[in-house]
Amino acid sequence: MPIPGHRRSRTGDWQHRLQSCAVNQCSTFFFVSDETMPPASPFKLLSLCILGLTLSACSNQVDPNSPEGQRQAAFKQILGHSEPLGGMLLGRVAFDGEAFAAHAEGLVELIDAPWAHFPEPGESNQRNASRPEIWSDPEGFAAAIDAYKSAVNELAAVTREGVDSLDQVRQPLTAVQQACKACHDDYRR
Ligand code: HEC
Repeated sequence: MPIPGHRRSRTGDWQHRLQSCAVNQCSTFFFVSDETMPPASPFKLLSLCILGLTLSACSNQVDPNSPEGQRQAAFKQILGHSEPLGGMLLGRVAFDGEAFAAHAEGLVELIDAPWAHFPEPGESNQRNASRPEIWSDPEGFAAAIDAYKSAVNELAAVTREGVDSLDQVRQPLTAVQQACKACHDDYRR
């Protein structure tokens, strides 16, 4: 049962894909205009939403004590710092040098948080978005972690001097964002 706008994932793991995207179905259908989507009536969109929610209600819970649950929680905490930083950079959040520096320290505190929670997947059936390349290409994954850590440490080195303007932190924050994205491009579905 194909869902418009969603490609089959590389592994062809449809069930996983359905579970992980079901929660976002409503916002995706209503707010993202995707050229692969044929025009659909509001009624049809609503039905798809309900379908998505029903699917997610079946088996979308991740055990918070599982490795998957723990690493996802760590990434959410990281996001809690990177999001306001990115918001300031884009002007969505009012610039505040002290808050900026505090969120940069938050990233430093969490710099190692997710990485211990990537054991071999084994028999786990917890919902997750990690690609098998994490385990088949451990050197590449380690290099992506290192690049991220260097970028975060560099950002903190700058913010510890005191943040007076966005211009001062634009480059090191952009480097952190690129390090997140580079890893997601290669190792996250
Ligand atoms: C070295 C690789 C790597 C880096 C660096 C990285 N991530 Fe991720 N991230 C992942 C992987 C892999 C997942 C999928 C985890 C899973 O579900 O198994 C993920 C998942 C996430 C999630 C989803 C968590 C959830 O609730 O399921 C968020 C949010 C996230 N990352 C934010 C960030 C942000 C923000 C940064 C940078 C500040 C970042 N990540 C840096 C690899 C990385």
